[in-house]
Amino acid sequence: MTAAVVTGVGASLPQRVVTNEELAGYLDTSDEWIRSRTGIGTRRWVDTGVSTGDLATQAGELALRSAGVDRVDAVVVATTTPDRLCPATAPEVATRLGLTGISAHDVNAVCTGFLYGLASAVGLIAAGNASSVLMIGAETFSTIIDPKDRGTAVIFADGAGALVLRAGSADEPGAVGPLVLGSDGSLADLIQIPAGGSRQRSSGEEAAPEDYYFRMRGREVYRHAVERMAGSAQEALLRAGLTMSDVDKFVPHQANARISVAVGERLGIRPEQTVSNVERVGNTAAASIGLLLAEATATGELRGGQRLLLTAFGGGLTWGATTMVWPDVTAHISSPARPAVALAG
Ligand code: COA
Repeated sequence: MTAAVVTGVGASLPQRVVTNEELAGYLDTSDEWIRSRTGIGTRRWVDTGVSTGDLATQAGELALRSAGVDRVDAVVVATTTPDRLCPATAPEVATRLGLTGISAHDVNAVCTGFLYGLASAVGLIAAGNASSVLMIGAETFSTIIDPKDRGTAVIFADGAGALVLRAGSADEPGAVGPLVLGSDGSLADLIQIPAGGSRQRSSGEEAAPEDYYFRMRGREVYRHAVERMAGSAQEALLRAGLTMSDVDKFVPHQANARISVAVGERLGIRPEQTVSNVERVGNTAAASIGLLLAEATATGELRGGQRLLLTAFGGGLTWGATTMVWPDVTAHISSPARPAVALAG
């Protein structure tokens, strides 16, 4: 079967850095609480007027530049925070990239979005419907979090990460390995925006203003996240015919530092194998794995030839994992507030 091979990686972060101290200025929280429970020190939030599509377009442009191409056959945008409820964000992103006319669609799997988006790109290539795909995970979670909810406002953040993939063979560096994906809709209430969708609108009832905000039952989510991320990672290794000893770097969705540590412990991963940027960028949901791949490539922590294990978990509930040998690529990152050379700190 034709494999999908990564040839470029890009990322975009908003300029505005939001510190824990800033949040503690209007929420009943503290830098100490946020750091010890989540590992987050700062996050980026967009300025007024900046949308998910803006970040997605910039990340997409940088990924295309990283791949050295200016055309692809399809654009996939994974997001929980589309520019509008209708239509999808991807067609407009494609047009802004000068790609009007090509296939373009959105994927929503909340924080597992990057891996579900990747599966969509892999599928387009494997079926012969596209020979190259730009896959972007992008979020502006700051637009849906309740500014008064200390349980979510301290965790979620904005950003975009993108990959360019082309048709190739499974033994090439950059080839995406077997993808393990799962879901459990019986737990949809754990992570949700109650209002604004057809269920609330068809009820004929007015929604309370706070029902338009993102909600999460954090403690329950934590338990499911650890179990599902570790389980799907093990299954992805098995399907690829690998064991943990074949893995060089562990690239988990940046939900929070405690979840990454707990999943790593279950898998028998050494702490130095785990790649992380949650301390600086928070949980960027569907963008997080793409953003992490780009940043860790830019700092040299990820290098061509290393075997990666990727896993994610999110609302739905959804989860997933895959493996790949990272290709020799140069990451392009737009982060005006802090240049890429300084990202390692
Ligand atoms: N600052 C201070 N206190 C806070 C707080 C904050 N930002 N957020 C919650 N609290 C309080 C709670 O109100 C609660 O107080 P109480 O005991 O008086 O009721 C206390 O801290 C414990 O709350 P709880 O939610 O049980 O804390 P926790 O140890 O489970 O940590 C999370 C909360 C959100 C950090 C944790 O549940 C978590 O990491 N969940 C997973 C979230 C996640 O990553 N989701 C994304 C998945 S993709």
